[in-house]
Amino acid sequence: MGRLIVISNRVSVPSAAGAAGAQGGLAVALNSALREHGGIWFGWSGQETAEFTGHLDMQRNEDITTATIDLEPQDIDEYYNGYANRTLWPLFHYRIDLTEYDRNFSEGYERVNERFAHSVFPLIEADDLVWVHDYHLLPLGSILRGKGVKNRIGLFLHTPWPPTRLLASLPFHERLVASMLEYDVIGFQTTEWLESFLHYVQKEMGLAVNLDNSIDYKGRRVIARAFPIGIDFAEFTQAAAGEEAQEACQRLKASVRGRKILIGVDRLDYSKGLGERFESFSRFLADHPDMAGRAVLLQIAPPSRGDVASYQQIREDLERKTGHINGAHADFDFVPIRYVNRGYPRSQLAGFYRAAEVGLVTPLRDGMNLVAKEYIAAQDPENPGVLILSQFAGAAIQLKEALLVNPHSVEHVAETIKRALDMPLDERKRRHQRLLASVRDEDVFHWLHQFVGALANDERGHDVAP
Ligand code: G6P
Repeated sequence: MGRLIVISNRVSVPSAAGAAGAQGGLAVALNSALREHGGIWFGWSGQETAEFTGHLDMQRNEDITTATIDLEPQDIDEYYNGYANRTLWPLFHYRIDLTEYDRNFSEGYERVNERFAHSVFPLIEADDLVWVHDYHLLPLGSILRGKGVKNRIGLFLHTPWPPTRLLASLPFHERLVASMLEYDVIGFQTTEWLESFLHYVQKEMGLAVNLDNSIDYKGRRVIARAFPIGIDFAEFTQAAAGEEAQEACQRLKASVRGRKILIGVDRLDYSKGLGERFESFSRFLADHPDMAGRAVLLQIAPPSRGDVASYQQIREDLERKTGHINGAHADFDFVPIRYVNRGYPRSQLAGFYRAAEVGLVTPLRDGMNLVAKEYIAAQDPENPGVLILSQFAGAAIQLKEALLVNPHSVEHVAETIKRALDMPLDERKRRHQRLLASVRDEDVFHWLHQFVGALANDERGHDVAP
């Protein structure tokens, strides 16, 4: 099998010292995948340059070879802050109220995809498997085909795929989806997003879907399938048992002086349902006066995409909300919500997860959500915490033994918090065992092997596990 050429907008190799948590599932998963398989990880450096040159900065860090390019301010504005994060991200998370469409954004998106293709092209050798990631780069495969690349090229989408009716509100949606049909394999996190995609190609493009979910289009065959992403289970459980994690766990426990701990860890993003989560915790405190002063919510929320107005808005809303809730429920020696706008190294995060009796993962919409899986992996099997998980996270399909909630229902989440805190040890253990088996068996390497196996397969139309 040839090398892997992985292409994503963000290339993030955490250094051992400063790996900040909640950097997004894509970076976490691709790090593990590339460590195992080898190859090159290509993408944007995160840096600006006055004029695009296509110069490749090649580096080797922590066993991973990266090749990055710098982008012009206009590119960053129109492609990253614009089409990717003002148009596609909200639309793919069912938020057409936040979706902005601007011709400059789509032109910038096309231009940067061209620039990616131009820069990565010389790196691609005959037997390489090319693996493109996420909504930033949907047309990249078709641009590479235009340059004569004959290699197998796959796309994995880390986000949800929206229902056809929502996608139809995007100008030129058909052109965008048609460009995706130049991939050999298109992967989604769950069957729900896969079905929405297949519905779209049938209803909007009038194409037939074969029994194996492949689609024949302009003489090519593309396979569409669900490949649920996982965590590096071995790495994370090892981190959770390590000294740094234990110290973080002890420090957090000591700081709450016997109170129950609930934890949330999310990028500061409107899709994560943080406002609803805070309201639910506040309702729980109001409904159960006996719990007053006895439970703390630690919410870690590193800021994200701060140049986009909707992210500035959610940040302000959450600041107001925490201030309000803490004002109502705090005491002279106690604050109910600890709201922290920074990331932590993964080893410390593992310790925080382990200290928490409840993991609150309540996005309004989420492609998968790896925090839910990390929380499970970090628990003490003899005394595990309880995971409360949104039914709208892709992870809910696999993690059925979590307490599944509708994050829009403040009452339901508040009652579920009570149920989680009251859950007897034998039920906690029983649920945790099943959750752990799923997180362990369907880990990031399982995902990698499944996807790469499907991509490497030369007999199109069949998918073979490696
Ligand atoms: C999600 C996306 C990733 C993205 C990450 C962090 O997980 O699917 O593509 O990298 O968020 O967002 P950022 O804009 O900081 O890269």
